[in-house]
Amino acid sequence: MKNLLVYYSKTNKTKYLSNIFFEILKKENDFSEFQILEKNNGLRYGISGLFFDLYNIITKKSIELKKNPDFENTEKIIFFSPIWAGNLALPIKHLINKYNEVLSNKKIFIITTSQREYKKIDINLENYEFYNFKRLNNNIKDIKAKEFNNINYIIEKIKK
Ligand SMILES: Cc1cc2nc3c(=O)[nH]c(=O)nc-3n(C[C@H](O)[C@H](O)[C@H](O)COP(=O)(O)O)c2cc1C
Repeated sequence: MKNLLVYYSKTNKTKYLSNIFFEILKKENDFSEFQILEKNNGLRYGISGLFFDLYNIITKKSIELKKNPDFENTEKIIFFSPIWAGNLALPIKHLINKYNEVLSNKKIFIITTSQREYKKIDINLENYEFYNFKRLNNNIKDIKAKEFNNINYIIEKIKK
């Protein structure tokens, strides 16, 4: 059985965090990493991008992804997502809703990054472990150094 890290990131913090986890996990386990990209990814950048994000959140607009990950034959799935408006970023939320049935019998970890601290969020899933990293620097070395203990703690949980 293979394991999958799935990340969405707009300004790279969540991407760096996922990359750090992947670097460690791939050494011992059968892990691969998958980046979620939207068909119209470019629309989310710049000032107009922020309005686009907010518009999508408010109108609950549906999301179209460039490619969907393959969850079949996957044992553990680790989702990495920024927090948007107190919940998962829309592309990850969309994916979890779409594949809800397939995901319901997998081991799921949800790892989020945000400005404020979140202990839980409202997700359409029965069982998962939730973790949050707040105020990450936009630099992979800094994240590794400052979050060393948190990262290792979660890695041990994933490896179990
Ligand atoms: C549209 C949007 C909504 C956001 N909403 C929240 C929020 O509700 N709470 C919070 O703490 N941070 C919020 N943030 C900040 C991001 O969660 C945070 O900066 C995150 O680490 C960014 O990850 P990224 O660099 O991978 O995109 C929001 C950011 C964006 C773009």
